[in-house]
Amino acid sequence: MSESSQPSAEVSIKIRENGPLVVSGPISVVDHEGNPIICDGANTAFCRCGLSAQKPFCDGTHRDTFDGTLSNG
Ligand code: FES
Repeated sequence: MSESSQPSAEVSIKIRENGPLVVSGPISVVDHEGNPIICDGANTAFCRCGLSAQKPFCDGTHRDTFDGTLSNG
């Protein structure tokens, strides 16, 4: 594994129960054409349910409708 592909200790991803992926730490996000998408703040919530009107970000639409239960086997 090259040094550049090592996971950063400064970034973490938390999977919220029945909710988004919350990325904490400094990140940059670009769209499919390479255009930067502004991410303000220390935490960025990415939609995991597919229902957000503000993809790739969570807008809260998942509440009370999304069952994102995870299983480790
Ligand atoms: S996870 Fe929140 S709107 Fe999809």
